[in-house]
Amino acid sequence: MDMIMSRVDPAFRNDVLRCFEQEVYAIPARWLYDRAGSELFEQITDLPEYYPTRTETGLLESYSGEVAEMAGSGRAVIEFGSGSSTKTPHLLRAVNPAAYVPIDISGDFLADSAAQLQEQFSNLPIYPLEADFMRRLNLPDQVSDMPKLGFFPGSTIGNMIARTSVDLLRFMRETLGEGAQLLIGFDRIKDPDVLIAAYDDSAGVTAEFSLNLLHRINRELGGEIAVDKFRHIAEWNDIYARIEIYLEAQADLDFSIDGSVFSMVRGQRIHIENSHKYGLRDARLMLRAGGWSPVQEWSDEKDYFSLILVEAHPFKDAP
Ligand code: AVI
Repeated sequence: MDMIMSRVDPAFRNDVLRCFEQEVYAIPARWLYDRAGSELFEQITDLPEYYPTRTETGLLESYSGEVAEMAGSGRAVIEFGSGSSTKTPHLLRAVNPAAYVPIDISGDFLADSAAQLQEQFSNLPIYPLEADFMRRLNLPDQVSDMPKLGFFPGSTIGNMIARTSVDLLRFMRETLGEGAQLLIGFDRIKDPDVLIAAYDDSAGVTAEFSLNLLHRINRELGGEIAVDKFRHIAEWNDIYARIEIYLEAQADLDFSIDGSVFSMVRGQRIHIENSHKYGLRDARLMLRAGGWSPVQEWSDEKDYFSLILVEAHPFKDAP
């Protein structure tokens, strides 16, 4: 027991305990991704209702050649939050990179996916980096003199509020350096019914993904939350242009976490995730706020998803 408790991330414990002391209950979305959560997310990407992965992969299949023409060959490709790196082969095949640096906070995932990619690209130097990309990073020495192409697919940026997104874009610019390019995916605003279905699928996988957060609290923090008394809710907030995910108590509840007792009343919610969507040019404005200049944007026929190529160069335009 002691050993299990001692492996608990103190930041997770803090965020969870602080949640129940605030007026509005909220837990940062990054805690959704323990091993079980990451596996459930992989299942989400295959769901018929979850269009983003399929659409972005289609864009990469169609347009990686154009990206390669604009980026030129011989860059080091740096992937932020590489996870299982499923979309990466399309890009690597087209851009003929000098090296590949997958960055992920989870060392397990990183080693497995780097090994898999190495099998497909036997001559490509791969330098995995286990790190939190939400701050400025030092890249491996081997790529320091190479021009860089950052890759941040999946509209992962959409899980951050605007202020955090802009901070991240600035960190990425510092990490990649002057002259770098970045290819980044953005999920677009569309019919709310399509969005809600994507985040509340009929097979209940997304609900399971959300509820896993409560299981994780029980597993890692000695929680005694009655998980079956909670419901997953996905709502469209039009003012903030985002899907909001909540866990809603279905009864009045008392539960303990790590020895402290908390109460929730029926209908009370814990806010666990935002997934922002972007209108035409919204994403480009945010990229510019983060110090990046747009080069090209590619979208699918329905404008469900966009891939945007941007570059970091000294500001040339009037202030
Ligand atoms: C990882 N991220 C881009 C997903 C999204 O679409 O916002 C996370 C997700 N949450 C529920 N379904 C998918």
